[in-house]
Amino acid sequence: MRNRIILVSAALLLAVFVSGAVAISESEIQRLAQLMGWKPGEVIADVGAGEGEIGFAAAAKVGKSGKVYLTELDEQKLENLKKEVERRKLTNVTVLAAAEKKTNLPENCCDAIVLRRVYHHLTAPTEIDASLLRSLKPGGELVVIDFPPNKSLTETQPVTGVPANRGGHGIPKKILLEELTAAGFVVEKTIDDWPDDDYLVIFGRPLK
Ligand SMILES: C[S@@+](CC[C@H](N)C(=O)[O-])C[C@H]1O[C@@H](n2cnc3c(N)ncnc32)[C@H](O)[C@@H]1O
Repeated sequence: MRNRIILVSAALLLAVFVSGAVAISESEIQRLAQLMGWKPGEVIADVGAGEGEIGFAAAAKVGKSGKVYLTELDEQKLENLKKEVERRKLTNVTVLAAAEKKTNLPENCCDAIVLRRVYHHLTAPTEIDASLLRSLKPGGELVVIDFPPNKSLTETQPVTGVPANRGGHGIPKKILLEELTAAGFVVEKTIDDWPDDDYLVIFGRPLK
């Protein structure tokens, strides 16, 4: 029995290592919810939602008077998200197909938008940044969680099609800040001790 547990644990660790995916923990979601101040009636988008853990947690907090958008570029993940919304019978969640150069979110739709471990995958960051700015309400917040280039991920799972200045799988915080401020966002807060060696940046869309 003990050997079987060790084998299963090792297989899980290997799967995480090979895929580069790090499932979000409940404590990270709670910290994010508190930081962003999710409340009833808000409209929040989880861009590049993956399995949708952040968005589903946000949907419970914003309630029936609020709304959550989940977007994905990957068709299989998009289908899985739609099925999960149906399975959970959620009426305040909309799943949207993202595009390479557009979020496909409605203009001025959102009080807050979050991208966790997505930004370094963007192949057209200038266009997506402009689209993110249009999707946020003036005064709204964009939260980006990402990580500096990771050596082992760069070797095992290189990201293709992204600008060369990322320097591998990940993105230096300095470049993220430069790109999003050039797009018109203002930096409100930076947190360097986010879980899994990630950093978090909160940007605001100015009122004018
Ligand atoms: C490492 S996963 C992170 C998933 C999820 N945010 C999480 O924290 O678990 C990156 C996701 O970004 C998605 N993605 C990449 N480019 C995108 C784009 N332009 N718009 C929306 N999603 C995108 C990928 O399909 C993938 O599911």
